[in-house]
Amino acid sequence: MNGRLCSSDALANAWHPVARSVDVVNKPVAARLLGRDVVLWRTPSGSLLAAPDRCPHREAPLSGGVVEDGCLVCPYHGWTFGDEGRCVRVPSATEGVPVPPRAHLDAYECEERYGLVWICIGVPAAPIPDIEQDRDPSFRRINTPVDVWKVSATRMVDNFLDITHFPWVHTGTFGRRQDTIVPRFELQPLDDEFYGYRYEVMAGNTTGALVSGQTGQVVHRVMSSGFNLPFIVRSTIKYDTGLEHILLLLSTPIDDITSYFTFVVWRNDDFSVSAEEIIRFDLAIGAEDKAMLEQVPGVLPLDQTTLVSVQADKCSVEWRRQLAELLKA
Ligand code: FES
Ligand SMILES: [Fe+2]
Repeated sequence: MNGRLCSSDALANAWHPVARSVDVVNKPVAARLLGRDVVLWRTPSGSLLAAPDRCPHREAPLSGGVVEDGCLVCPYHGWTFGDEGRCVRVPSATEGVPVPPRAHLDAYECEERYGLVWICIGVPAAPIPDIEQDRDPSFRRINTPVDVWKVSATRMVDNFLDITHFPWVHTGTFGRRQDTIVPRFELQPLDDEFYGYRYEVMAGNTTGALVSGQTGQVVHRVMSSGFNLPFIVRSTIKYDTGLEHILLLLSTPIDDITSYFTFVVWRNDDFSVSAEEIIRFDLAIGAEDKAMLEQVPGVLPLDQTTLVSVQADKCSVEWRRQLAELLKA
């Protein structure tokens, strides 16, 4: 089990974001989750379908086909799939010959939430976590494109729960080399959905009022970092002005050592800063993490003895312990 993800039933039974909603419009989209190729497409009613990217006829990738009248048409012999992945047309069949029962696609569970397409290739064990700010009109939501990192999803979550890399990896954005000490903190439920810790930091303010709403070299942030199994991390930032910035950091295992990365931001600002500028800042932070993590090979060991951890790592240690239990279950 040690860090291997693709064969896990527990991960198959979890929701994973694989694409942005706005990127699935009028043609099929290929995605890959836990080593399986997936095709996504949108029906005329606007609902989304997800299914294995393999035609039941001769195994052609359906994502190479087209969407016509909301039906997915295979590029090889034109078999056509409609609602719930049902095969509705075999062009070579003569009038009145029924479609073979095994011609239908086994559609996956698929939901759109927070501007993203989430799929579950098994049976969902728990709902997608609720982000209350998504319903709060004083917050706006900003999505970023879905990127591919050559990093195990487990190494990404470990990194997103870790604040001790800020002064080393994030010196180009908000990290400050002079602040390396992490005061003792306690792990706790942050709310019904996330488990983690709260802390305060002084952050570099290189973008001025753009992100923090304040000028000055350094700004005070009250923060929390927490996880929702298996791979969802939420980071919250509150500035002294009352400005709040909530980040959902999402790592999806394409396979054991490659992952999708995307994040969603909610902010209660006055909307004077453009979404593009906020994305540019957060993407610059993500690029610093990506550049570091892509140098670390292989999967993250999940046992408690292979890696050496210190007090400041305890959130990630606890997440790893819970993940290892989930994968064993
Ligand atoms: S392989 Fe898809 S129709 Fe033949
Ligand atoms: Fe980071």
